[in-house]
Amino acid sequence: MTTKAEEKKSRFDPEPMPRRDFLGIAALGSMAAAFGLSILGMLKLPKAAVSASLAKKFNVALPDTLAEGEAFIPPGRNVAVFRDGEGVFAISTVCTHLGCIVKTSVNGFDCPCHGSGFTKDGTVRKGPAPKPLPWLKVSNNGGMITVDEDSKVKSGTKV
Ligand code: FES
Repeated sequence: MTTKAEEKKSRFDPEPMPRRDFLGIAALGSMAAAFGLSILGMLKLPKAAVSASLAKKFNVALPDTLAEGEAFIPPGRNVAVFRDGEGVFAISTVCTHLGCIVKTSVNGFDCPCHGSGFTKDGTVRKGPAPKPLPWLKVSNNGGMITVDEDSKVKSGTKV
């Protein structure tokens, strides 16, 4: 014997899903969506902002047109290379106050951060920089100038 409710129901009508099963499937779907979105998020992570550091020892080809006493700053380096009648020398362009990069000027170097000034040989012209700009080791290998940013030398050392 069948009830009226069962009689009205077609055999093509789906069985109602129990609430517990529905919630379980919904939870699994949510977990799968969260996992998929997290994978997408990881794929879209930005690349490292810090690139590998450059070698501290590098070769410089001074331009033939470089005038005596004129600074040549190799691209991407914090070094000013000079040539004069006595030889070639290099001075760091990292300010001795808090490490900003100084800019060349008619008076030598000026720091854009707190206003320090340095003469062309790195001597402090105006504070707050506590020390002169360091001179760096330079070697001349058959016309090729090599600068070592890690090696400081006494100011006035030229090759
Ligand atoms: S960092 Fe150059 S003056 Fe402060």
